Amino acid sequence: MIRENNGIFYLETEKTEYIFRITQKGYLEHIYYGKRLNDDDITPYTDRNTFIYGNCVEYEDNDRIITAEHFKSEFSQPGRGDVREISVDIIHCDGTRTSDFLYKSYSVENNKYIIDTLPCAYAGEYGVMSLSINMEDALTKDELILNYAVYEESDVITKNVVFTNKESGAVTVRKLMSNQLDFENGSYKMINFNGGWADEMNMSERKILPGITSGASFCGSSSSRTNPFIMVADDKAGEDYGDVYAFNLVYSGNHYESVYCDTAGAVRFIHGINPSETEFKIWPGEKFEAPESVMCYSFSGYEGVSRNMHYFIQNNIVRGYWKNKVRPIVINSWESYYFDINEDKLLKLAKSAAKCKMEVLVIDDGWFKGRNDDCTSLGDWESDETKFPEGLESLTKKIRELGMDVGIWIEPEMISEKSTLYEKHPDWAVKIPNRNHAYGRHQLILDMTNEEVQEYVIKAVCRVIESCQASYVKWDMNRVMSDYYGVKCLKNQLEFAHRYIMGVYKVMEKVTSAFPQVLFESCAGGGNRFDLGMLCYMPQIWASDNTDAGCRLNIQEGYSYGYPSSVISAHVSQCPNHQTGRVISLYTRFCVAAFGITGFECNFDNCTPKELKAFEEMVEFYKQYRKYIQFGQFYRLKNDEKENAWQLFDERTQKGIFMLYRKDTAFKGVYSKIKLKGLKADAKYKISGDIQCITTGNVLMNAGFAVPENGTEHGFMMENETKLYTIEKI
Ligand code: DGJ
Repeated sequence: MIRENNGIFYLETEKTEYIFRITQKGYLEHIYYGKRLNDDDITPYTDRNTFIYGNCVEYEDNDRIITAEHFKSEFSQPGRGDVREISVDIIHCDGTRTSDFLYKSYSVENNKYIIDTLPCAYAGEYGVMSLSINMEDALTKDELILNYAVYEESDVITKNVVFTNKESGAVTVRKLMSNQLDFENGSYKMINFNGGWADEMNMSERKILPGITSGASFCGSSSSRTNPFIMVADDKAGEDYGDVYAFNLVYSGNHYESVYCDTAGAVRFIHGINPSETEFKIWPGEKFEAPESVMCYSFSGYEGVSRNMHYFIQNNIVRGYWKNKVRPIVINSWESYYFDINEDKLLKLAKSAAKCKMEVLVIDDGWFKGRNDDCTSLGDWESDETKFPEGLESLTKKIRELGMDVGIWIEPEMISEKSTLYEKHPDWAVKIPNRNHAYGRHQLILDMTNEEVQEYVIKAVCRVIESCQASYVKWDMNRVMSDYYGVKCLKNQLEFAHRYIMGVYKVMEKVTSAFPQVLFESCAGGGNRFDLGMLCYMPQIWASDNTDAGCRLNIQEGYSYGYPSSVISAHVSQCPNHQTGRVISLYTRFCVAAFGITGFECNFDNCTPKELKAFEEMVEFYKQYRKYIQFGQFYRLKNDEKENAWQLFDERTQKGIFMLYRKDTAFKGVYSKIKLKGLKADAKYKISGDIQCITTGNVLMNAGFAVPENGTEHGFMMENETKLYTIEKI
């Protein structure tokens, strides 16, 4: 619900409320974001100011109301005394950079506001209300629109900002943040998810101290270095208690998020496109749209915001045929054979996988001509005749005859210097004229700002999908961007990174809408582009190139704070693990993968009949439970030095799974207790696993479930042993 009363705007979700007002001068003052108040008697604070602090700047002489430095604003601007980190930075055509956007008008609609150049959330079945605030610069008449949309049932509010140049010449947008939130003064912490290749989503909590605490990507993509999902929480908040604010961006490029804090504890959060990596020239009459910001608040800790974000992603970000549809179990050829694939090997893999009732054989890297390692052929999307003498079409037909669907890997944004495409179009690769450029995985990036390249990529991907009638596509992107240079950015190369992402979105839109029933999985060397922008086109993402179950435990738990299980792709791979060399049992590998979109990525060549039988049983189990797993509520039950415990529970059907993972041999001589969540206190539940029992939700949530201590080989559970249980209401 969105209401306006006496110049005060109330944005209400089921449990939260967001309030701001128009001041006398026409500024937007932020008043409140927190638990729903249902009360119009909120008093704006700046009206009570009587004193101008020391050397602070007033808006006008003797203006007791607005000292920009202390004003809790909806959108901060430079040049008139707001000396904190500001939201907009424009070099006007007269060369100055002061902006003074003042309120002009507003409109409320029973619909979602529109963003033309970037993907964004949509209304979904429950609908949304939008508020648009129109602001105008006092001198230049430039226009700024602040859009808000309210998703009541998920307690999410989205924001977006659009700038239009109304001046007589070009202006430079150096910074246009997507969202700003000025918090009540207090003690806060910032929670980021940092990492690198094969080491995604490490949670880091930092106390907010005076100065700037920030996170950012400088990789060209949203990156694994810092995921755009971030939380700002009361210092004392924890897993299921305390005030937590969560933010994400519907954007796949360089992003920036920061918290500015002064010594009085005034805290400002902003996030958006990384301003140090992008700058845009905007010509008279043109506009620049900031990516959409997604935010929610919960008074029940991280768990509360995770629940909101999960619901929102499933209902308002992921779209199309695969929305809320159970995902197939794939067998992927990458860790099975890497580049060394051919018709015989893939058919053998398909036969074993079909026996285990897996559903899609994904032909990963190595299928196109001359691709025997990662040095060549990207861009030449024709099948390799030596590996597939009868062509890919014939092989994929044979795979389908075995009862399996076909998936295909492609890395369409890339080009190898050793390729026919490069011979024909060296100018399509991103490189700065006359300068040596940097390589990543021996490959170059295609200039996705160039429409000719976009057209080529669209045609190439569509042709590949058609030629093998793929029902699944893994869209990879394996390197950090460098040497930013685009033929469409000749007037300002600082536009490259953002134009690249807009080009990628355009291509993805065309390709995915040409094949609405094909399941697309986004990938960027694992989780290097795990973000809401990608999820607007592709309903799931390969979470990491690290398939070691112990590492995945941390990685998948990291994702779970901001993303639901239905978008996190997780495979059971070979042992010893190829990335870490670690030996972890098949059962544990499966248990961890089972908390996401499970697939397999191993060859069955040396498998014993017993192991094959185990694969078959896992597939059967996962198929039986996947609808509760993929769309259930994820709970982080426990995470200490020795153990992790997770639960996925479908509240509607009251069915789910939970597991205990022993990270370190505990030697405690006594069972571990897990307290389950989200059950009905009075209902009875049946638990099945290595023991069966029937008890009430009350007992399971409060006294907990005692996991037998016995391990598979010893009287106690050892490092990397896992117990998985099913739970259902009887
Ligand atoms: C990186 C991906 O994350 C892997 O799963 C695999 O597809 C390789 N690329 C193939 O080159």
